[in-house]
Amino acid sequence: MIAENDFIPSKYSTTIEKGTFKWSAPSNIALVKYWGKKENQVPANPSISFTLNNCKTITELSFEKKANPSDDFSFDLLFEGKPKEDFKPKIQKFFERVLVYLPFLKDYHFTIDTQNTFPHSSGIASSASGMSALAMNLMSLEKALHPEMTEHYFYQKASFLARLGSGSACRSIRGNVVEWGNHAEISGSSDLFGVIFPTKIHSNFQNYQDTILLVDKGEKQVSSTVGHDLMHNHPFAERRFEQAHENLSKIKAILENGNLEEFIKIVESEALTLHAMMMTSMPYFILMKPNTLEIINKIWKFRNETQIPICFTLDAGANVHVLYPENVTETVLQFIKDELVVYCQNGQYICDVIGNGVEQLK
Ligand code: PMV
Repeated sequence: MIAENDFIPSKYSTTIEKGTFKWSAPSNIALVKYWGKKENQVPANPSISFTLNNCKTITELSFEKKANPSDDFSFDLLFEGKPKEDFKPKIQKFFERVLVYLPFLKDYHFTIDTQNTFPHSSGIASSASGMSALAMNLMSLEKALHPEMTEHYFYQKASFLARLGSGSACRSIRGNVVEWGNHAEISGSSDLFGVIFPTKIHSNFQNYQDTILLVDKGEKQVSSTVGHDLMHNHPFAERRFEQAHENLSKIKAILENGNLEEFIKIVESEALTLHAMMMTSMPYFILMKPNTLEIINKIWKFRNETQIPICFTLDAGANVHVLYPENVTETVLQFIKDELVVYCQNGQYICDVIGNGVEQLK
């Protein structure tokens, strides 16, 4: 089994003075949810997600060897080309956490220039795509220092590093379906990084659609750090963690056999369970908005009337992800425009589709 120590590099074989890398990394949407963690970003239960295609972070990393080595991290952070001081503490903390795995971090001055393809403050978490884009750039630099590195190690360590930035980010490196966390039936699964779903996925899930309805674009009421923490001493936590293992077994079979009716049951139940955990923690939260419920009811009515296999899932917020197979796209988009867009803030929604993971841009 691969352990944390396996990601501590031995001496690098080359040196490099300066350069630039650029990667894009997508967001992902969990089908079985990660909610609750142990120390060092180890998940309390396994999770599985669709990698998205259009909601991405694009990050350029420029680096230059410091003239005078110092014991501090040195970096500038730009968001859409402009300095963004409030993002710096998160990066600083990330660098501290990953320093043992990337011992070159204090040797360089970095400029991190980052932007998202989705609207700013859309309520879409950019931490998954942001952390995985940064992890890819850092891995490019490590590969430049150690060109013998295998491709397998390159992506696995990128996922490992992204996880230390933001847990679910480790599922944003590859496509199209990624599992994270030890699970008896997923070979090679690990708490330390995401793995590509190991068996062939049924054609029903090819180009699966995710239309994200932006119900509430406000600041998150509960950060995910606080949220995960509330699973400690939560009265239903242990049963929930077991249930995630069970649901992962079920969804594994469903992804292989293409049973959309069963898919819908697991995915919607997982979304509501995530929110039920927040509603039953102390303190308790309701992150859904009235319009979230309006949309859910409309989806259920539409599904009953048309037998079209669409369903919803939720993140830790009020926005609704509408999931459906590619062959019903036209009808579903018409339904969304006619009946759901009224519940979106400023009528905004984003059309996405299951995707292939990170891409190097330069
Ligand atoms: O990666 P974090 O710590 O922001 O946690 C995200 C958790 C959920 O999005 C609510 C669920 C998931 O598995 O993505």
